[in-house]
Amino acid sequence: MTIENNQDTMHGNHPENGHGHAMDEHNYDGIEELDNPPPGWIMFIFYLTIGISILYGAYYFWIGIGPDQHQEYERAVLKAQAQYESGQPGVQMVLLSDEVSLAEGKTIYADMNCAACHGAEGEGNAIGPNLTDDYWIHGCSFEEVFNIIKNGEPLKGMTAFKTQLSDERIAKVTSYVMLTMKEYNPANPKDPQGEKCE
Ligand code: HEC
Repeated sequence: MTIENNQDTMHGNHPENGHGHAMDEHNYDGIEELDNPPPGWIMFIFYLTIGISILYGAYYFWIGIGPDQHQEYERAVLKAQAQYESGQPGVQMVLLSDEVSLAEGKTIYADMNCAACHGAEGEGNAIGPNLTDDYWIHGCSFEEVFNIIKNGEPLKGMTAFKTQLSDERIAKVTSYVMLTMKEYNPANPKDPQGEKCE
């Protein structure tokens, strides 16, 4: 059997190598190397990554327009300092007694379905406690009421609203509960729970 014949058989046995051409010098005892170029799309990605790496190197290292990690850190610190010093404009973490905020708080109470567990007037029901009496399970200060609405008490059935309400909106609904709702005299109040606290 000649080498020529062998090559033919190999081509015949490997139809998927149909594009390949045996490389002249690379034929050892009938074992030949085929010149099989990779498909165009692979070559495209290959050259693309080289192109990107050159642009990347130029941007971050050679021309140096892009920030390095120390500069990025400096920027983040400056931004955080500016935010801290300006005290997060717009978010008021205090009891809000103006009409507009209290009205918004009432809307939030309705929209978030607080009534399902606390009653339409905060009278409480089989699920949630009365919000109109002087007894509080989690305390009656602004911070404590804000905190229970924000972080909830999932094991006892109180939803955490931090993913649904911004701090500003939690402050409004807290103010509504503490100021407006406090004045309600619901017909069917639930028995007091927790400690007396005014
Ligand atoms: C799925 C039912 C449910 C919903 C909805 C719900 N609550 Fe509650 N809430 C509870 C339960 C139950 C408790 C009592 C938790 C405990 O015993 O620790 C509670 C406790 C509270 C407390 C603390 C009361 C206390 O005595 O310390 C406040 C304030 C409160 N909820 C306000 C709200 C507001 C405002 C909303 C709507 C934004 C709301 N809740 C929605 C079930 C609910």
